[in-house]
Amino acid sequence: QQDKVASLPDNEFLIIAHRGASAYAPEHSLLSYELAVQMQADYIELDVHRTQDKELVALHDRFIELGNDKQAIADTTFKQLKAIQRKASQRKKIPVTMQTDIDPLRIVSTEEVFSHFKDDVNYYIELKTPSTYPGIEKTLLQQLRDNNLLQQGNGFPTVILQSFDGDALKEIHKEEPSIPLIQLYSEKNESMLTKSHLRKVAKYASGIGVDEKIVTKELVDRAHAAGLHVHPFTVNDKDAIRRMIELQVNGIFTDVPDVAVEVLKEM
Ligand code: G3P
Ligand code: CA
Repeated sequence: QQDKVASLPDNEFLIIAHRGASAYAPEHSLLSYELAVQMQADYIELDVHRTQDKELVALHDRFIELGNDKQAIADTTFKQLKAIQRKASQRKKIPVTMQTDIDPLRIVSTEEVFSHFKDDVNYYIELKTPSTYPGIEKTLLQQLRDNNLLQQGNGFPTVILQSFDGDALKEIHKEEPSIPLIQLYSEKNESMLTKSHLRKVAKYASGIGVDEKIVTKELVDRAHAAGLHVHPFTVNDKDAIRRMIELQVNGIFTDVPDVAVEVLKEM
């Protein structure tokens, strides 16, 4: 007997700040997340890997540049990561005035993000290559519980979890069915998205996150018919955002949450 899946808000269009407001600040920095909150994004998106000493960190890539070399995050300690400054070239133009002492180039752990924002924001967290980090699902769930983040705060679930790895999502669903889960698909997964496949996914997930290039009206209808919400990534262009709203997707991942807010207001 499978537990019921958690529900996502109907009749809402979620603006998910992809790696924070990453068009304006280094991705996954506290500053990028702060900007996303100021721009009224509904969720801040974090990609998560695990260090050698089992710290969960907000980073997109599985490897980090160390001098002329690349090293797996799994082989790097958190202390080493903290000593690595992001390249100053990652500084971007910030469009709003901010009084902040946040170092935009510092790499942060999920614990630091949770203790900084508490339940004042909503988190949309991706487990990246979780099979590389056995047990990461349990560690993340424990952190979320310890930080009191597993509740419905402002009408939206405080936490949504996502992954390309269905097994990791099924494990989380078994352990904590109250969390809405999103199964991710890249462009090359397009042919998998059949009616029968989506019905199976709907047994553990509340929605699908799909590359915007493969989003069509037919796909949106097929997913909705299976009871799944649709969150395309990564939609940055005004016309593309309008098109997604017209296709009745349930939200978008975007690097420019301010633009998405503006487009949504116009429609
Ligand atoms: O999580 C949805 C989308 O962000 C997946 O792509 O590579 O930006 O994590 P990526
Ligand atoms: Ca992601």
